[in-house]
Amino acid sequence: MSTNLADAPTTGAQPAAAPPAAAPPAAATRGLPPGPKPPVALQTLAMRTRQRPYLERARRRYGQMFSIKVVGLGTTVIISDPELIKQAFRADPTVLHAGTGSPLRTVLGEHSLLSIDEDQHMQQRKLLLPPFKGQRMKSYESLIAEIAAEEIDRWPEGVEFETTRSMQRITLRAILRAVFGAEGAQLHELEELLPAWTVMGTRLVLTPWLQHDLGRFSPWRKFMRMRARIDEILAQMIAAAKADPHLEDRADVLALMVQASHEDGSPMSNAEICDQLVTMLVAGHETTANTLAWAVERLRRHPEVLDRLVEEADEGGKALREATIREVQRMRPVIAFAGRIVRKPYEIGGYDMPLGTRMLLAACLTHFDPELFPHPDRFDPDRFLDTVPDTYSWIPFGGGIRRCIGATFAHMELDVVLRVMLERVQLLPTTDSDEPWAFRGIVWAAGRDGRARIVHRRRSAAAAAAAAPVLATAAG
Ligand code: HEM
Repeated sequence: MSTNLADAPTTGAQPAAAPPAAAPPAAATRGLPPGPKPPVALQTLAMRTRQRPYLERARRRYGQMFSIKVVGLGTTVIISDPELIKQAFRADPTVLHAGTGSPLRTVLGEHSLLSIDEDQHMQQRKLLLPPFKGQRMKSYESLIAEIAAEEIDRWPEGVEFETTRSMQRITLRAILRAVFGAEGAQLHELEELLPAWTVMGTRLVLTPWLQHDLGRFSPWRKFMRMRARIDEILAQMIAAAKADPHLEDRADVLALMVQASHEDGSPMSNAEICDQLVTMLVAGHETTANTLAWAVERLRRHPEVLDRLVEEADEGGKALREATIREVQRMRPVIAFAGRIVRKPYEIGGYDMPLGTRMLLAACLTHFDPELFPHPDRFDPDRFLDTVPDTYSWIPFGGGIRRCIGATFAHMELDVVLRVMLERVQLLPTTDSDEPWAFRGIVWAAGRDGRARIVHRRRSAAAAAAAAPVLATAAG
């Protein structure tokens, strides 16, 4: 076994150093770029437990493009050079796939946007994009503020507590109401079913050999039974939407999908709508919740930023909050990579990639490159104040024709939930060490679940509204 530092799994992040410039061979070389040499088992362990420091060391040794070996991923090349990332994001969709062969297909369904490619992907994406356009987001803001306020008003005072669960309740309800259009009994049943179904699905993705009906008590049978019930509820909701005389006035995404049609004029089928709805839930719920928990973790360790944010929220501003969201997503990208698989001959970085190679475009590396983000280990929202981050070096939402379809929704939701939190509670800063990164199947989460402690409740919007007549009377 090699004793090279870059080859050994590590226990902690190293100070950031500029990676060596990639030095590709003059003519394209058939095969893979070099990479760490430890046995597959050790590399797999490092990727599961100490991913970022491990990759950071490999990048220092091998440059912006190197190969790793991980159980379950096959041949894998990690890429962190923005120019190469740009090339991959812009590649012909018949050459680089992102969906087909995805382990998510069996779990999310054959129509899921995350498990299809080429024309089928473009067709579905075209149908799903309009509801997620920027101008529609305004219509969801007050709904999300209401959901967040209800949850945050239940946070305990004076004791430390984990925020991840609470953020998950907010983001689940936000998706179920804004995207699924669920209300009443259906909302409550979906709130019960979907988190358990998602947890099972995440486990089953990691254990493909259990994705078979092995009898009455097998996890797969239970999982498919739950999915059948979810589809049943969704079918009722679709039928109700089709019969709704005010369908055109509705803002939820399900209502918009019911009205959408393919190029040949045919409507989206129930199976397509169901697969896309559960895909959005799986893709959008944990990602947004864990980003919010990371925001709490970052802000408690940076009281000067927290104070400025509270002041800004009180004055009705949002520029620093938006910059803070971008900085949280830079420093703590919950999805470490955007993945692509080579399906046709493809040259990148001087290498002719063998067919079937998996390329991972690494947010967890570009976001910490000191050439791109000076002092990358410093939490510094000001770096994004009034500037739009670069499309190929700030990539928490991936890019190209596979860029996260819910990015604008997620940004709006992060913004609204943080605003409501800043308005309603005063967080106690902490000198505790940073929470470690913990891999939770899909996302990299705050390892101690974004622990918070509230000093006191601030005057809430409701309290302000209730106080208004009293003040008016007093003034009169
Ligand atoms: C902070 C929150 C979120 C993060 C960090 C995130 C991140 C990502 C990433 C990295 C991808 C893969 C992009 C690529 O391969 O280039 C993706 C795809 C996707 N995301 Fe998100 N996401 C978030 C929230 C959401 C929300 C709220 C929704 C829906 C309501 C959503 C729906 C999707 C869908 C449907 C795709 C597949 C797009 C395609 O393949 O065309 N995501 N997301």
